[in-house]
Amino acid sequence: MKVLLAVVKRLHRPAVCYSTRRALSSSAGSGGLLAAEETDTAVVVASSQELLQRIGSQVEVRTGFISEKEEEAFLREVELGLKKKRYQFDHWDDAIHGYRETERLSWGAECEEVLTRVRSTAFAEGSPLLGPVHVLDLDKTGYIKPHIDSVKFCGTTIAGLSLLSDSIMRLVKENSSSEWLDMLLPRRSLYILRDQARYDFTHEILKDEESVFNGQKVPRQRRIAIICRNLPG
Ligand code: OGA
Ligand code: MN
Repeated sequence: MKVLLAVVKRLHRPAVCYSTRRALSSSAGSGGLLAAEETDTAVVVASSQELLQRIGSQVEVRTGFISEKEEEAFLREVELGLKKKRYQFDHWDDAIHGYRETERLSWGAECEEVLTRVRSTAFAEGSPLLGPVHVLDLDKTGYIKPHIDSVKFCGTTIAGLSLLSDSIMRLVKENSSSEWLDMLLPRRSLYILRDQARYDFTHEILKDEESVFNGQKVPRQRRIAIICRNLPG
């Protein structure tokens, strides 16, 4: 019996996938530290190896995609506009709880440079993009419920930078809740969702109380996402 249980347990152990860290360019970190940071970190766990193989190439987390200085540049640009708004908590039909948001079409040089990097990383060359960049500010108690982005307004790919906090994005197959995939989104990382991962799975950002990745608590602080999308084909 014990043996059988052990086997069952092993079978149900989620499949784990490791990120390939991209070395930060010039401005960030000194050589030694960076090398230490470059050890592999698990960023995706899935309900099965099979799912990871099927969907793994359509989700991506690039840790350390922006430097602390670049994060500060984004905060400087968005904080004033956000502060004028109040967090929304009580719209029961909203997909998002405890948030405020804005859109921005034009950015200062430093942010624009990062956004160019995001676009060239996430989108195929020539793919028409949604003009304004979406800025979503989640309060410490805020979270995003499972949803699929409107297919009317956005295309195959969603790419987001995470500022201020680590968080967990959970993908769950529509009409098949046993198929799931958790993505650890460290502060200053870039995530990308494409194709089936974007169309056939809901995505959500877990609330602090539920923010556990592969058995490890990931405290959720206030988090700002800078999100780029392409247009429907
Ligand atoms: C959304 C969304 C994810 C994020 O705004 O539709 O899913 O990273 N945001 O905040
Ligand atoms: Mn969404």
